[in-house]
Amino acid sequence: MDISNITDIIKTRKSFRTFDGKLISKEHKEMLSSYIKTIDNPYNIPVEFIFLNAEEHGLSSPVIKGEHLYIAAKVPKTEHCEEAFGFSFEKMVLYAWSLGIGTTWIGGTMPREKFEKAVQLKDNELMLCVSPLGYPANKMSVKELAMRAAIKADKRSSEKELFFENNFSSPLNTSDEKVAKALETVRFAPSAVNKQPWRIVKTGNTYNFYEYSTLGGHSAAWDVQKVDMGIALCHFITLTSGELCLSDPHIETPKKHRIYCRCFALNNAYITQS
Ligand SMILES: Cc1cc2nc3c(=O)[nH]c(=O)nc-3n(C[C@H](O)[C@H](O)[C@H](O)COP(=O)(O)O)c2cc1C
Repeated sequence: MDISNITDIIKTRKSFRTFDGKLISKEHKEMLSSYIKTIDNPYNIPVEFIFLNAEEHGLSSPVIKGEHLYIAAKVPKTEHCEEAFGFSFEKMVLYAWSLGIGTTWIGGTMPREKFEKAVQLKDNELMLCVSPLGYPANKMSVKELAMRAAIKADKRSSEKELFFENNFSSPLNTSDEKVAKALETVRFAPSAVNKQPWRIVKTGNTYNFYEYSTLGGHSAAWDVQKVDMGIALCHFITLTSGELCLSDPHIETPKKHRIYCRCFALNNAYITQS
């Protein structure tokens, strides 16, 4: 993907739930198909993408209109599979948008059993989310407009609510333009019910990612907000060429912030390793 305009791609991407009813072009499908073969993630957990023809498999979503094609993905059930999924699927989403193809992350509003059957999901695999692929219609459906308003889809939390230095009480003020840009792309990221669970605490030259878990359901087989964390990491790592390192930074955390991971920004001339 052309990294030079990645910030624009991230900032102009949004969920599209109303499509123009046309199939995506053969050329675009081939480009997307080639690109997804190159996608990897810092967890080295394989994420397998599958195109699904909506009519052939009888697939639809109650929130999507005018689509003919979906893309789904599967991961092996393993520790960090949600974050790996989030990271890789977001790469696909951003590449699709660079071609003008609209997507919507769908983890809930779909007949899950039908999609899982269509991807021939095995017992040791999870299909966390799917997305329609299509060209956005000129006008959003009434349902889409209502949905966006209900979840305040165009709003994001402020920097001072999300990014901190040394502890969770001191907001982060960075004069480093590259880091500031990367943090902004984290802020713009999509998340389930637009809950934006990511919190980042900078210590030295390390950016420690935390999940502020608000959707509950941790007894379920998987945590959708960890998928969101993978998306945030995708943006941050792409913008900083940082490296992921999993360890506990021992920062005192408010009750609901779960220690998640550390992200060293190693490969940058502008950052020296702490
Ligand atoms: C992991 C994940 C799961 C999501 N699941 C759904 C879903 O089931 N249905 C839906 O309409 N939108 C879903 N969304 C889209 C979010 O509602 C959307 O990203 C958020 O409101 C921000 O809006 P935007 O994508 O237009 O920026 C999901 C997003 C993510 C990241």
